Amino acid sequence: MVTRFLKRPFGDQIAFLQQLRREFEATGAVAPSSRFLARAITKPLTDREGPARILEVGPGTGAVTRQIVQGLRSDDRLDLVELNGGFVEILQQKFRDDPVFQAAADRAEIHMCAVQDFEADGQYDFIVSGLPLNNFPAELVREIFEVCFNLLADDGVLSYFEYMFVRKFRRVLSRGSERARLTALEEILGARLQQHRFRTNGVLVNIPPAWVHHLRKEETPRAD
Ligand SMILES: C[S@@+](CC[C@H](N)C(=O)[O-])C[C@H]1O[C@@H](n2cnc3c(N)ncnc32)[C@H](O)[C@@H]1O
Repeated sequence: MVTRFLKRPFGDQIAFLQQLRREFEATGAVAPSSRFLARAITKPLTDREGPARILEVGPGTGAVTRQIVQGLRSDDRLDLVELNGGFVEILQQKFRDDPVFQAAADRAEIHMCAVQDFEADGQYDFIVSGLPLNNFPAELVREIFEVCFNLLADDGVLSYFEYMFVRKFRRVLSRGSERARLTALEEILGARLQQHRFRTNGVLVNIPPAWVHHLRKEETPRAD
């Protein structure tokens, strides 16, 4: 059903909205990421030397995956972890039928599960996450960061995005337990960024505009 739309213009956008209606919290976006966001979040991969193990978490319809597979080298390996069966179906079809994806199909594997349940067979040099963290309970976000950092090689890089000002805006408008959740998220994400971030880029050409954060597993030395 979802894949019927793939051959039509805007097929990915329509499929995305369908999944948003069904799985609002886990989908967490009204449209796939723009190519500008895809380029910004995969920048550390473009700059790498040597073969790499890459994990993409929450690939959705494959907007960021397209960018990754375009730069995938012969000795690289790509694992994709996606929770939603509708999106998995779309990704499988792309690896079968889309020439850009097909070219990397022998080095890519799709795993249909939540990242917190993913059983990896090794660590990754790069983890690229499209998870809508602002929609999740604080404890789940804490767990996801722990899981991702455990999956990251010592000199590995974790890249993720968040929509600009959305958390702060929602926090101002919310009350009670929702406000407490957003406050806890602010603390968890703020602490991770303070310890591990080496770069943040703003991407304005995206719906909505987003910040892309790049974190190293090794802690960033503090100025004080
Ligand atoms: C905001 S969409 C991002 C899609 C795509 N990366 C993009 O940029 O267009 C979030 C994606 O994360 C997936 N997702 C949500 N929770 C997840 C989890 N715990 N483990 C793996 N994937 C998850 C959703 O199904 C959805 O595909």
